[in-house]
This record gives sequence, structure tokens and C-alpha cells, in this order.
Amino acid sequence: MERLIVDHPLAAARLTTMRDETTDNAGFRAALSDLTQMLIYEALAAAPRADVQIKTPLVPHTGSRLATPPLLVPVLRAGLGMVEQAHAMVPEARVGFVGIARDEATAQPVPYLESLPEDLSGLPVFVLDPMLATGGSMLHTIELLVARNATDITAVCVVAAPQGVTLLEESGHPCRLVVAAIDEGLDDANYIVPGLGDAGDRQFGPR
Ligand code: PRP
Ligand code: URA
Repeated sequence: MERLIVDHPLAAARLTTMRDETTDNAGFRAALSDLTQMLIYEALAAAPRADVQIKTPLVPHTGSRLATPPLLVPVLRAGLGMVEQAHAMVPEARVGFVGIARDEATAQPVPYLESLPEDLSGLPVFVLDPMLATGGSMLHTIELLVARNATDITAVCVVAAPQGVTLLEESGHPCRLVVAAIDEGLDDANYIVPGLGDAGDRQFGPR
């Protein structure tokens, strides 16, 4: 699986703010939004372009646009904090939604919402979820997308655990990973270490 680790100094600074336990909900959301902009920018660095004929105030000019804007799929709740900024970067993108809550005891994904276009053939898909821990939630989401004929899936995450990366790799699905950091591992409760805690709670408060 292709992995792109976005280790820019500005990305690292926003990630540090997110990791810091003294950062409040508003500060966490702002840092996540800024970091999402950087992740999406890097995720689209090699995206195909289509020519666009325009006129500058001086002469005709051949410019370009994204050939095929990706479908953005935030995974609720935590992915909600990424979608506004990702959509601002790619305003012409369509947006689908998946809702999954991890069972606290088993860490198994419990899906509760699925709102996606029926056929994703030929459409790149960007799944937005800050956390890739065991990988169960992302794998479930990717399976929903593959069942709709998606063949070009990018998981856009803030922090990943090696276990989640391995799960995606071994799934054999057509997926690449764009992430700000791959951390050391998981603790006994399957939280990423050093991580940043519960990304949903840190944006929106505890459930
Ligand atoms: C978090 C996170 C991922 C998932 C990652 O969501 O946003 O979706 O856990 O864990 P996994 O890789 O082990 O599946 P959570 O289930 O806490 O729900 P929330 O976003 O509503 O807080
Ligand atoms: N979900 C989170 O929000 N944080 C983790 O560390 C693991 C799963």
C-alpha cells in the first residue's frame, strides 16, 4: 500500500497542538482544520489535470483544473472536523457520509450511518478520519466503498497506529494512506500511543 507521511514543519506544529492535552476543543478543531488543508494538498499533488481554455485580461491561455474531483467521505463523528476544510480545498467535490462508533469494550466498529452514491466506478474517494487505530473502522468504510465499485481510495488520517496500517495493507483493497504521523502503537484500550486521545471527544466533548 502506498503511504505518504506529511512531515512538514507546519503539519508537525498543528499535530503537536492536537496532541497537547491542554488544547481545548476549539483549539483542537482549528489545528485539525489547518492540518486537513495540508493533508488534502499533499494527497492531490499528483492528481490528473484537465485543460481549461480561458482568457486572461491579456491573451487566451490554457489553464487546468482537477480532472476528477474526489468524493469526500468523512467518518462520523471525528471526520466531521476535516470535511469543511477538505471541501474548501476541492469545492466541486461531492460528499458522502459514513457513521461508525467503536465499541468501547471490543474496539469493533459499530456502523450507524451510510449515505453514499450507489456507483463509485471511476471516482477517486478520499475517506476522512483523523484516527486509524486498529483499522477496523477504516476497513469497514473501505469495504462499503469497494462494494460500490470504488477502485481508487485514499485514507486521509492524522495519526495511524502500525496495526491499522498493517490491517489495510493485508486487506488487499485498492487503498493508499496519507497521514501526518505513524505512532508507536496501541495501549490496552486500543488507543493510539502517544496519539491525541479520543478525536471525537476532543472536538465535540464527551458523548
Ligand atoms: C474513532 C476514530 C475512528 C476510530 C478508529 O472513532 O474517529 O473512526 O475510532 O479506531 P479503529 O481504527 O480502532 O477502528 P470513534 O469510534 O471513537 O467514534 P467518534 O468519531 O464518534 O468519536
Ligand atoms: N479513536 C480515537 O479517537 N483515538 C484513538 O486513539 C483510537 C481510536
